[in-house]
Amino acid sequence: MDRILIRGGRPLDGEIAIGGAKNAALPLLAAGLLTEQPLVLSNVPRLADIATMRALIAQHGVGVAPLDDDGRTLAIGGAIRCTEAPYDIVRKMRASVLVLGPLVARAGEARVSLPGGCAIGPRPIDLHLKGLEQMGAVIRLEGGYVHASAPHGLHGAAIVLPMPSVGATENLLMAASLADGQTVIANAAREPEISDLAECLVAMGGRIGGIGTDRLTVEGVRRLHGATHAVIPDRIETGTYACAAAITGGTLHLRHARRDHLDAVLRVLAEAGVEVLEGDGGLTVRRLNGLRGTDAMTEPYPGFPTDMQAQLMALMAVAEGAAMITETIFENRFMHVPELNRLGARVNVHGASAIVRGVPTLSGAPVMATDLRASVSLVLAGLAARGETVVNRVYHLDRGYEAVEQKLAACGADIERLAG
Ligand code: EPZ
Repeated sequence: MDRILIRGGRPLDGEIAIGGAKNAALPLLAAGLLTEQPLVLSNVPRLADIATMRALIAQHGVGVAPLDDDGRTLAIGGAIRCTEAPYDIVRKMRASVLVLGPLVARAGEARVSLPGGCAIGPRPIDLHLKGLEQMGAVIRLEGGYVHASAPHGLHGAAIVLPMPSVGATENLLMAASLADGQTVIANAAREPEISDLAECLVAMGGRIGGIGTDRLTVEGVRRLHGATHAVIPDRIETGTYACAAAITGGTLHLRHARRDHLDAVLRVLAEAGVEVLEGDGGLTVRRLNGLRGTDAMTEPYPGFPTDMQAQLMALMAVAEGAAMITETIFENRFMHVPELNRLGARVNVHGASAIVRGVPTLSGAPVMATDLRASVSLVLAGLAARGETVVNRVYHLDRGYEAVEQKLAACGADIERLAG
C-alpha cells in the first residue's frame, strides 16, 4: 500500500488548479443512465471513486467513453442491459447506490447491494427507499440486496425528507425526472452538487423548479435526451488547499475556485485569521498573522460542511487558543483525532464535540489514514509539523484528491509518494 512522506515546516507558495467536484461527478455519471442518448460530462476529476462509478455503469451495459486524452470528458450512453449493482462494487463506494433511482426509473427494476456501513458511520439508505416506495416502486430487501421494481413506471409523489440527505435527494430527483406526474421533495438537501445535478437534468429535458432551495418540484417527462454539462469545481478540495496555505503560513492561488460555494468555510477561516481574496479566476488564500482558535459546527449546506471538519481540526491544532468542533452529521467522524494527537496535537473528544487546544508546533510521526477526509487532514498536519510524517493507507486519499502530492510539491512542499 502506498504511503506519503512529508518533511514539514515549509510555507507553500504558488498556484493549484481546483478540479471538478467528486460529489457532483458521481451523481452526474449516474444520471447518464436516464437516457439512451449520450450525456457528455466535462471537467470530470480523475479519482478512484470516479473509476468505480465508471465500472458500475459499464456493468449495466451502458458505455462510458473518454472523449479526450486525459479522461476528463466522458460520454455516457446506451441501452441498460443489466440492472444489478453487485456487492463487490457497492462495498467499495457507498455512492454506488445513486444508480438505484435511475435504474428503477429507466428500466423498471434494480438489484442494488446494500452499501453496508463505512468508517464514518452506519449510513443507511432508508430515506432513498421510502421515497421510491412513495413513487410506486416495490422494494424488497433480501440477501443483502435491495430488490426494487416498478414495472408500470413510477408516479409523482409528495415526499418530505425527515433530514436533508444528499444522496436521497439526488436519487429521488433523478427518479422523479422520469416519473408520471409531479413530485415535490420537501426538506431537500441544498448542496451545490445537487443544484449541479438538477441543472444537468434540465439540460437533458427535465422539468425541475426550486433548484438551490430545500423544496424541489419535478414535472416528470416521458424521456430525457442527451446533453453536455461541465462539472462544478470541487468546494471541498478548495477548502482543503485553503487550509494548506493557512497551516503552512504560505500563499496559494486556487484557480477555478468558487467563493459562493464556500461561505460558511470562508467565514470560519476569516475568524481564524485567514485572508481569502477573489480574483484572477479563483481565490488567493494566505494567513495574515497568527491563527486564532475558532469554533465550528458541521451542518447541512449552507452550513459548515462535514467534509471540511477534519481539515479544520488540523488547522486548529496549531492555532492560538482553543477551538470546539462539533460534528452533527455523522456518528463517528473523529477517527483523525488519535492520529493528529500522535503528531503532538491536543484534541479531546466529548461526544459529538472535540476540544482542540492549539500547540506552537507539531512533530512528525508515522500516522494512519482511516477515511478520505481524515487522510487529508493528516497531510495538512504533516505539512506544518517539524520533521518527517509518513501517512499510511493513502488509498483513502486517492478516492477524493487528484495528484495531491504533485499539486503540493509544485508549491514548495517537501512531499513524495513511497510506493508499496
Ligand atoms: C454525501 O454522502 C457525500 N458523498 C458525503 O461526502 C458527505 O459527507 C455527505 O453527503 C454529507 O454532506 C457524496 O456526495 C458521494 P447523506 P451521503 O445522505 O449522501 C444519514 C466525502 O468525504 N442517512 O446526506 O451518504 C446518514 O447515515 C463524502 O466526499 C440516513 O439516516 O450523505 C448520515 O448520518 C463522505 N438515511 C447522514 O444522514 C438515509 O437514507 C448524512 O447522509 C440517508 C442518510
